[in-house]
Amino acid sequence: MFRHHPARGRRTAGLLVTALATLSAGLAAVAPAPPAHADTATLGELAEAKGRYFGSATDNPELSDTRYTQILGSEFGQITVGNTMKWQYTEPSRGRFDYTAAEEIVDLAESNGQSVRGHTLVWHNQLPSWVGDVPAGELLDVMRNHITHEVDHFKGRLIHWDVVNEAFEEDGSRRQSVFQQKIGDSYIAEAFKAARAADPDAKLYYNDYNIEGIGPKSDAVYEMVKSFKARGVPIDGVGMQAHLIAGQVPASIQRNIQRFADLGVDVALTELDIRMTLPRTAAKDAQQADDYGAVVRACLAVSRCVGITLWDYTDKYSWVPSVFPGEGAALPWDENFAKKPAYHAIAAALSGGGPAPGGDCTATYRVTSRWQGGFTAEVTVRNEHSAPITGWTVTWTLPGGQSIGNVWNGNLTVNGRNVTVRNAGYNGTLGGGGSTTFGLQGQGAADIPADVTCTPGQSAGTPAQ
Ligand code: XIL
Repeated sequence: MFRHHPARGRRTAGLLVTALATLSAGLAAVAPAPPAHADTATLGELAEAKGRYFGSATDNPELSDTRYTQILGSEFGQITVGNTMKWQYTEPSRGRFDYTAAEEIVDLAESNGQSVRGHTLVWHNQLPSWVGDVPAGELLDVMRNHITHEVDHFKGRLIHWDVVNEAFEEDGSRRQSVFQQKIGDSYIAEAFKAARAADPDAKLYYNDYNIEGIGPKSDAVYEMVKSFKARGVPIDGVGMQAHLIAGQVPASIQRNIQRFADLGVDVALTELDIRMTLPRTAAKDAQQADDYGAVVRACLAVSRCVGITLWDYTDKYSWVPSVFPGEGAALPWDENFAKKPAYHAIAAALSGGGPAPGGDCTATYRVTSRWQGGFTAEVTVRNEHSAPITGWTVTWTLPGGQSIGNVWNGNLTVNGRNVTVRNAGYNGTLGGGGSTTFGLQGQGAADIPADVTCTPGQSAGTPAQ
């Protein structure tokens, strides 16, 4: 079976051709030539062509899964260590440092030519319990020592550090972490100064969730960054985690990224996933694909948005189901490593494609039976996006020696070798992720046309002669 998923262009509707030979005569199916906009480039390469990185988080237990590491090593330009750079792993008891697990991932990334973000130095979670017992008067030194030791250890090997993670509440007030309570407001600035002193070359980020759109929490981070810039506190970037929900991408995301960039810092989308209520459906996949595309385009629209990292790339290893019961399927690869519509939406957005104005559809052509001198085929028309389409037009060029006898569940026009099939009166409207099929009977060899294309709407086409 031949499957091909090209990147979708703005006006060119996507094309997906599946050749399935149901053989009676023992003939091999003829694979169509790959279309011009084949998405053979990896997401990492597509992002790099735009001056950005596209990466994935990973974690040590998954590294024994060779299917997993094959894609991790080839598809992405950047890696984030998902857990093992956190305090509980790197300084499990006071003054005893251990980077073994983190280094396993950094070594792997380096061997694959991938850059690495460091995550994270100061956070209220995954903090060993001994830190909570440190007397107030000693905690600033303990925090500085932790930062200095870890940043120095990885000096020269990391592009970014998430210096402080999740220091604000939803209302914009400071989270009452042990650092906030025992050191006070100044702990964040002190953390950045210690990190800069230990590695002047790594870019230093403040990282948080629910700061992708404009609101009280992102406003508070914005004010902090502004004041750091005014006071000369060394900050280089803001990480927006982007743990998002399908259908709920904040409308202000691009404006928000832009306003941070305008303060003179970079922005990175550091932990992107877009979850849905389980089970998956085609409609939810279509919504999620649109959302991934929108997030990628928002980043590309701001020159200081330097890169995007998925919070792991496959549903097999997503953190979502364990933390949000009943939700999941948040990543562009499913649990069996099959690419979902979200993958193709990301590839299309990284290639410069926007959402087609009237939606977008794909056509999948397969031969259902063949005999000496003729064949039947079935074409599946699918709306790949969340907005409904109210009509569709499928076109292709007849392979040499073929002619079409009749079409059912669609209206046929043939002009020379140009075939156009428009929807029938009853199957033109397709909801988000919805699909329908039409059938045809043809004469000649059952060659699969190479240029089957779906366009939403009943486009004019070429009149029959
Ligand atoms: C998560 C990991 O993915 C889980 O494996 C772990 O059990 C908990 O932490 N925000 C962050 C990340 O900054 O470090 C978190 O990672 C997800 C939320």
